[in-house]
Amino acid sequence: MRGIFLTLEGPEGSGKSTQARLLASRLRSAGRTVLETAEPGGTPIGLQIRRVLLDSKNSELCPTAELLLMFACRAQNVDQWILPALSRGEIVISDRFTDSTLVYQGAARGLGAEVVYEIDRIACRGVVPDLTLVIDIDTETGLERARKRNRATQDVETRLDEQGLSFHRKVHDAYHQLAADEPRRIKLIDGARDEAAVAQDVWDAVRPLVESAR
Ligand code: TMP
Repeated sequence: MRGIFLTLEGPEGSGKSTQARLLASRLRSAGRTVLETAEPGGTPIGLQIRRVLLDSKNSELCPTAELLLMFACRAQNVDQWILPALSRGEIVISDRFTDSTLVYQGAARGLGAEVVYEIDRIACRGVVPDLTLVIDIDTETGLERARKRNRATQDVETRLDEQGLSFHRKVHDAYHQLAADEPRRIKLIDGARDEAAVAQDVWDAVRPLVESAR
């Protein structure tokens, strides 16, 4: 039996993590078993790798090491949590997955999509999201939200948030390009509205898939 793999994506400050949580609780209320995970992180080993990746002190981390560490996290998550849950027929919701690597490392860092797909083949062993929701937000608004949150929580995992405006504009544009390239799998949702309105659009996109898989 094969479950359903859903991913939430978006630039900094888009509100995707909140939406991932809201979606998980709505699915659980509908009686579904849900595994919530996140990239980078997810597993205990992934969390240790996340600290290396996002610690603002690690400014010398080179783009290729960054790419490989993102996939080291993901390989662990696929093997330890995601594939077993899918094979039990559960719904898996991941807050970010390979589309993040395509936009951040492939596009914004300039490593290119080909290298990302190549490592994905090894790390993810054919696991591709059934549906991806990109919570869209304009770059300035998203960054302002993210930086405000980082200050409030005194977060040190800010190395990528601290990249310049042009980096984050590339991230935003690359998400739009991905959604245009793969319109069946990837849906853009306007994240500039209140949480409940965004959550309703997320639910409207997910419900047909969940109901057809019953
Ligand atoms: P988060 O804000 O969702 O916790 O994600 C942490 C940061 O990691 C965010 O700036 C996006 C970045 N990231 C990548 O650069 N590549 C990836 O493959 C993933 C999953 C995240």
